[in-house]
Amino acid sequence: MDAPVMQSPEAGDALPCIDVSAHREAVQIAPRVHWIGAMDPALRSFDIILRSANGTTYNAFAVRGRDGVAIIDTVKLEFQDEFFARLESIARYDEIRFVVLNHLEPDHTGALPELLRRAPQAQLYISTRATSMLKALLKPGNADGDYAYTTVGTGDCIDLGDRTLRFLHTPYLHWPDTQCTYLEEEQVLFSGDVFGCHYCDTRLFNDRVGDFRFSFDYYYAHIMRPFKQHVLDALKLIEPLPLATIAPTHGPILRERPRRYVARYRELSSPTLSLELGTDEHSLVVFYMSSYGNTARMAEAVRAGAEDSGGVRVSLYDLEGGETEPFVDLIEEADGLAFGSPTINGDAVKPVWDLLSSLAVVDLRGKIGAAFGSYGWSGEAVPLIEQRLRGLKMRLPIDGLRVKLIPTDEELECCRDFGACIAAELRGDAKAGAASKGGVVEFEDL
Ligand code: FEO
Repeated sequence: MDAPVMQSPEAGDALPCIDVSAHREAVQIAPRVHWIGAMDPALRSFDIILRSANGTTYNAFAVRGRDGVAIIDTVKLEFQDEFFARLESIARYDEIRFVVLNHLEPDHTGALPELLRRAPQAQLYISTRATSMLKALLKPGNADGDYAYTTVGTGDCIDLGDRTLRFLHTPYLHWPDTQCTYLEEEQVLFSGDVFGCHYCDTRLFNDRVGDFRFSFDYYYAHIMRPFKQHVLDALKLIEPLPLATIAPTHGPILRERPRRYVARYRELSSPTLSLELGTDEHSLVVFYMSSYGNTARMAEAVRAGAEDSGGVRVSLYDLEGGETEPFVDLIEEADGLAFGSPTINGDAVKPVWDLLSSLAVVDLRGKIGAAFGSYGWSGEAVPLIEQRLRGLKMRLPIDGLRVKLIPTDEELECCRDFGACIAAELRGDAKAGAASKGGVVEFEDL
């Protein structure tokens, strides 16, 4: 298509407060830096797992330098007309020298094939981890699949003459491919999904839109939380940067006090339980459900055994009386987790599954897990729970414990041993654990 001829905006234009729904023009977010994204106010669920009360935005940006234009990210395919209209309002396609992809999820790369068709001279820049995703996206061998690209990592730069874009490698925020891009001269951080949220407001800037704190934290909880350590690694790169503006790929542009959003990420990513426990104390959380009190008695004995062995603070919760969401915080910070469930209709009971199914948002890798429960005639609950815990990448060094119907005093003693074994594993006292493990038996073969 013909490249429209448009005026370049003047550096130093006042930052606007406008309603972008009324037109399809780019919006300046810093001198010679424009938002060219799209609004999706009708969206109510995203990636199946996230909900949004008022839609989202797909933010993309254009940076103009003396030697050309860089496009940073694109939009979801269904919104590409809006993206191209805004792009055409501030640049010609033949001016585009660079296309930077901070993240290759389709909500940010839907318009990429068409953009590269319109600007075939543009050089594509992606993170080193994005190569396989790019190939899957553009399908080499297809008409769209033969574009050259350059991979970049932390410290690499591209030069627009009088403007420099520097890359920060920030993997897993939210996919392995993700990176941030920093415009040095204007102190703008194009942060990808980091610091984003699903919140659509045509006033666009954080100092103009409605209160989006809930959406910001909700987005963090579902997208970033499973990768807290990666968030902390990324913050080490981001915190030293002078920041005038953070420009994420979703939600408001953060131009007023942007550093508070960085601080909020550090707060949300930092463990708090470890501040309350002694340095040599470990935490075990025991959850249970009980229909006739038998699994409850087992749970009490497991707790007693773990506590009495020392060095472990144990918390005991009956799932009949709790909401799932607060437990997720406890689980994330605990060192060990034990789940007790009776077997009903050949399965663990629903509240246990509700809790276990909500744990995809936290990183449980390497935590110690265990399962126990009373049963009537089959007892599948314990192995099914163990299977789920292994799927969550937990370590299960102690075989699950099943008791047929009402636990005897001897069986409760075995439950105490079971708790002591878990505590020993938490302390790293594996020999002590192995010794008492001999007392943990299953009282009837299934
Ligand atoms: Fe907004 Fe992970 O894509």
